[in-house]
Amino acid sequence: MLSLSRIKVLVFALSLLPAMLLIQRFSNHDLGPNPLEELTHTTGDWALYFLFASLSITPFRRWLGMPDLIRFRRMLGLFSAFYASLHFGVWAYFDKQLDPAELIADLTLRRFIIAGIFALAILVILAATSTNDAIRRLGKNWQRLHRLVYIAAAAAILHYYWLVKADTRLPLAFAALLALLLLARLRSAKIRRS
Ligand code: HEM
Repeated sequence: MLSLSRIKVLVFALSLLPAMLLIQRFSNHDLGPNPLEELTHTTGDWALYFLFASLSITPFRRWLGMPDLIRFRRMLGLFSAFYASLHFGVWAYFDKQLDPAELIADLTLRRFIIAGIFALAILVILAATSTNDAIRRLGKNWQRLHRLVYIAAAAAILHYYWLVKADTRLPLAFAALLALLLLARLRSAKIRRS
């Protein structure tokens, strides 16, 4: 049987794999006909997957009777912030060439970019306050602050919904999943109170 710390190393390595493969494809000029789109979409997709993976930990540890799953929540949340930051970096560097006028125009005028930056800002704040020291210092406020992850997920879905041109099925499926996760969360909070 693998020890918990070994499983953590394995999950860490697997979580880095999409970024490594992307870097490899980038250096081999193997990103297909539209490299910018491939970079943006792959990093955006993984940011969303990790966000939902971290949100799913709380209900799944109860349903599966595996309390130790909680040990993976912080890592998965940090990977979501990591991929979202890469996604932002690709947009700012490759798409907008760090041109302040272009960056500001998009950040103020395009609603899907505004929703994305809002989600990213929350994820960065949560990542910065995810250390053991911050948890100790913030006390009860830490849990309140970290509930903002649901707002970040809603903003990320809105970002996705607004950017797709025709087929909205995937963002709507994520919205339904988020509603289910929220319901599960509210239900267990109610059970704990009664
Ligand atoms: C938590 C934050 C974010 C998440 C989870 C996220 C997720 C996504 C997803 C899932 C896609 C679509 C990928 C696909 O179609 O396969 C996407 C596309 C995109 N995102 Fe984000 N995003 C986030 C933040 C941002 C930010 C901060 C920016 C830039 C300021 C940004 C810019 C874009 C752009 C330019 C696209 C491509 C749009 C297009 O194809 O027309 N995103 N994002």
